[in-house]
Amino acid sequence: MHLERLYIDRVRNLTEQRLTLGPGANFVVGGNGSGKTTILEAISLLSTGRSFRTSTARPLIQHTQPACTVQGRLVGEAVQKELGVRRHRSGEVELRVNGISVASLVELASALPTVLIDTSASDLIVGQPELRRRYLDSTMFHVEQRFLACWRRYHKALRQRNAGLRRGMISGYSAWCAEVAGSGEVLSALREPVAQQLSQRFARTATTLSPSLSGVDLSFRPGWSRPDTLEQVLRVGLDTDRSQGYTRAGPHRADLRMVVNGRAASEVLSRGQLKLAVVALKAAQAEVMVDMGVSPPVFLVDDLGSELDGPHAAAVCGLLAQTGSQVVLTAVAEQELQQYWRGGDQCLFHVEQGCVSPARG
Ligand SMILES: Nc1ncnc2c1ncn2[C@@H]1O[C@H](COP(=O)(O)OP(=O)(O)OP(=O)(O)O)[C@@H](O)[C@H]1O
Ligand SMILES: [Mg+2]
Repeated sequence: MHLERLYIDRVRNLTEQRLTLGPGANFVVGGNGSGKTTILEAISLLSTGRSFRTSTARPLIQHTQPACTVQGRLVGEAVQKELGVRRHRSGEVELRVNGISVASLVELASALPTVLIDTSASDLIVGQPELRRRYLDSTMFHVEQRFLACWRRYHKALRQRNAGLRRGMISGYSAWCAEVAGSGEVLSALREPVAQQLSQRFARTATTLSPSLSGVDLSFRPGWSRPDTLEQVLRVGLDTDRSQGYTRAGPHRADLRMVVNGRAASEVLSRGQLKLAVVALKAAQAEVMVDMGVSPPVFLVDDLGSELDGPHAAAVCGLLAQTGSQVVLTAVAEQELQQYWRGGDQCLFHVEQGCVSPARG
């Protein structure tokens, strides 16, 4: 499946813009402030219901307009799917699949998986563990059918236990504790093998992108110290949890720890190396999805050249081409992309003051 038709209306400076994307590489070029990132943001909105640049819809909606709309047609060998998202200034969200309203984002997210590599990509390594949990969980969402129900069950139990702890309603190891421990172990047992698969592919891909990353290693941290069970940890930590009013250990504290030759990657890698490592993480995610029979995600690459020298930018393009994914890349100058991307299907779009025009098919 790939995203073929895209309609973007009243998203920042884009009004009634129609694009026909190719199944391979799509280059979006234009000057600063022309609307390149907004095109990626619109695709991301169609996939996740939200923007990667803002947590609320308001900054995304064109000034003075009440709502913004993105529609897309996905085409596969024998199937076609129409997706639509409209976000209102009031906060209301309308989601449609094949013209029918749907209540949950799950259907959109599973129909159009996207992977973003933008200028803040290195946050995935240097930022909070939550970002790495989200990376792991978004992979889980696509490859493990039991994941979503399991994740919801654990977080419901966790909310209840935390509320009980805050209100002083938990005096001993209660049913809430047992539910957190039980569902937490199940969630963690689902995460671990996927984390291992990501880790193996990540190490291989990172080395291919740059020999300087050859000592890199990604390891799964479940969110409590093993070999203890979560039940043991919750029992031992109960008094402290009660005095602090929240559950300190469990899968909600899970992490993926990245080291390079034994040292924390966040402390030793340069900006360019961090970006390459993030590309390797995202490519590993795509590989795991394909291995598990899920169609590969669409890669959204904003400002490809930033922080990368020519040979490394070319290596990233080579890797993306190999994944077989549809890729949408932005750059200020056309030559930048064409000198790095070799062969394959290519489409080029120029953006000027919010107007998108195809340069050639
Ligand atoms: N809510 C909004 N309504 C109207 N225009 C907006 C809104 N938010 C941002 N803009 C404008 O939309 C334009 C699109 O910005 P975008 O970030 O997509 O540009 P870009 O082509 O990626 O630029 P750069 O090369 O600097 O990254 C900018 O000119 C910005 O000022
Ligand atoms: Mg931009």
